[in-house]
This record gives sequence, structure tokens and C-alpha cells, in this order.
Amino acid sequence: MNASSVSSAPAPVAPAAATPATPWPMPPTLDQVHFEVPDSAKVDPHETQLVNDLPDEGGLVERWHEMDSGSIPDGFRDKLYKGVITHVNDVLFRSRPGSPPQPEQPDHPGAWHFSALGDFGNGTKAMTDVIANLERWKPELVLSAGDQVYPKSTPENWQEKIDPMNKFGGLGSTVPFIPNMGNHDQEPTTAEYFKRFPYVEGGRYFKASHKNLDSFSLDTNQSLSPGSPQYTWLAGALAASTAPWKIIQIHHPMMSVLSKFHYKETSKLPGDLGPLLAKYGVDLVLAGHEHWYERSRPLNEEGTLQVTVGGGGGALYPFFYPQTKWSQTRDLDFGHVDFEVRGDDELVGRYMTRDGKVKDTFVVPNRTPGGWKAGDPLVGGAAEAAEGRPPTVMPAEPGAAG
Ligand SMILES: [Fe+2]
Repeated sequence: MNASSVSSAPAPVAPAAATPATPWPMPPTLDQVHFEVPDSAKVDPHETQLVNDLPDEGGLVERWHEMDSGSIPDGFRDKLYKGVITHVNDVLFRSRPGSPPQPEQPDHPGAWHFSALGDFGNGTKAMTDVIANLERWKPELVLSAGDQVYPKSTPENWQEKIDPMNKFGGLGSTVPFIPNMGNHDQEPTTAEYFKRFPYVEGGRYFKASHKNLDSFSLDTNQSLSPGSPQYTWLAGALAASTAPWKIIQIHHPMMSVLSKFHYKETSKLPGDLGPLLAKYGVDLVLAGHEHWYERSRPLNEEGTLQVTVGGGGGALYPFFYPQTKWSQTRDLDFGHVDFEVRGDDELVGRYMTRDGKVKDTFVVPNRTPGGWKAGDPLVGGAAEAAEGRPPTVMPAEPGAAG
């Protein structure tokens, strides 16, 4: 399918805002982009799905639609991004550039990005959309909240849904990816999961380190009660951590409106895990399993936040229950959270839906400054810690090992 001509190019987008109060130049520039397309493009507004209404410069409301990107002429997809269109007639449609701009280098000295997502492993378009948007922010690290594959962790499911995209455990992945053991990753066995993430060396829970961040990827399918092997390891690892940023990755959320329906251990998490968060100044708890986005209010005097990032691609389901007291905000959509690490001072979190719209921005101030040493390894497995072996260093191109 070929387009006949392009009558104007997208206008340059405004630079990213420097403060988190205006996280991103959304909505996009008001400059219209006109494309001529052949009839064969079959751009039909009646086949599109209403996404949003946005006020125009003149106070008008433009209607945004989303259409099947397969019907967009080749060469326009990068300009349209998922086919966001505003007006259609026989041979012309016009569109605002739907694609978010490439993130610019942060102003903050030494700032870098990492991403968080969970519950993505079904190989659907929603999954690939979320991951494509995630990559625009050029994260140095991706932290998972589990369920890297659905519905079972069989060779067939990994090969069909995850391996072909060549990232996040697929062969040839290029983004350092820190997995987490979801319930779907371990059924019927964990064999395929560990094949994709050999650098965790069989650890169902482990520590990953990058620059000024330590992340502790835990296994909520197993006990975290005081006295359990996992709790004992975690308490020791947190006590030993000198990283300014401390993050915990779990699959089943600690704070949940659905905890009584989750794995039996989940209801104990606030009592088991909660005291450690305050004691060691954990900044963030990343959770999944619930297929939506939800950010908690500060959970303790240290300001620990839980952020549920379960909209990575697995089928969405309703909230089921009204928002509870601990919950600051939530959103039922596909998306991920990008974190901008502004040195040791603050994290700026941006929740984005798969079309690149930033729908929640928050700042996490640091309570535990100082301590990171250059050259700290990226991944150290629990087994290594237990055995006193030197920690593993994440391969420069982790896909080579995946
Ligand atoms: Fe799950």
C-alpha cells in the first residue's frame, strides 16, 4: 500500500518540560498534518474506536479515534502512531502527530531512566504497544512485576508470545531486564522462565543493582513471613544495601482491594513486608497481578509508595471494588511507568498508557541519600549471597545470555 503524497511534515514538538508539574508536552502540537492517502487505505472513521476528546486551540473539541494500524499506509505509521486521526474524507485525512516525542536527555545532572511494567506476557498488540512506548524513553533498566508469560510457562507459550519480540527474555533482547516470579511464570514449572533469565542463576528472589539503585525482586508465591528463608535473606540484603534508591519488585500486591482472592500468602504481606519497608527506607514497591495501574498514598513515615503496574498487556479486568483509603489514584488501561532518576535526590514517575499519554506524574523524594559505589554489580543472586560467591555481573547485552 503506497501513499500518493505528503503535503506537509509534522511540526517539531516542543521540548520536554523541565519540571514534573508539566511532565510532557501533551497534548501534542496543534499543527495539523495532512496526508493524502489512496482509497485502498480504507480509512473509515466508522471502523475506529473513540479514544478521547481534546480541546482545540479555538476552544473546539476534536475527536480522536484509534484505528487498526494495519490500515495505515506504509511510511506513515511512524508519523501517526497507532493511527490517531482527527478527520477523514474520501481521500484525505488529517491527524495530529499521535506519537509522543522522543524523550530528551534529562536536564538533571546524571539523570537516567528505568521502566516498570508487569503482566504483559500474552503476545498481544497491547503488549507490543506498551513495550514500544516504553522503549521511547530509553530506559537503562526494566523492572518487571511478574507474569512474563501467559497462561502457562510452557515452551510453546514462550516461543509463541515472548521469544519473537526479541526482548525481555526473548532471544536477542537488548534491554537489561530484571524479571519477577509471577504465578503464571511457575506453572507448570519454572524451567522455561529460568532459561530466559539465566543471569538470575535460578534465584526465585534476588537483588539487582544498577548505578544508584538496588532492586529486590521477591517471590510472592512463597512465604515472606519472618523466619522464612526469603524474609531472612531480604532483611539481610536490605540491611547491607547502601544504594540511595531501594526498590522492591513483587507480583501479588502488598496493598490490594483483592488480597483475599489472591494467593494465600498475599494477605500477610502488609504484616510481613511492611515493617521492613519503613525500617530500611524502601522507596518504592512495584507490584503486578492486578491488571491496572494504581499508586498508593505514602504507606509509612518513610514515604514508601506501592505502584501497581499490571497493565502491561494481559487482559484488563474491572476494578471490582471502590478505591480504598490507601490508594491515591488508579487507571484501568494498558501502560507502564517510566522513572527518571534525578541523582540521589528524587525519582520522577510517569505513568503512560500505550499511546504515550502521561496520565499520572509523581515525585518520590529520597530518604536514604548516599552510599552507592561506582562499579557495583548489576545483579547479585540470592543463591550467590547465601553461598558467599561473588555476585554475577549482568552481561553487557543480556540477550546474548537469554
Ligand atoms: Fe498474576
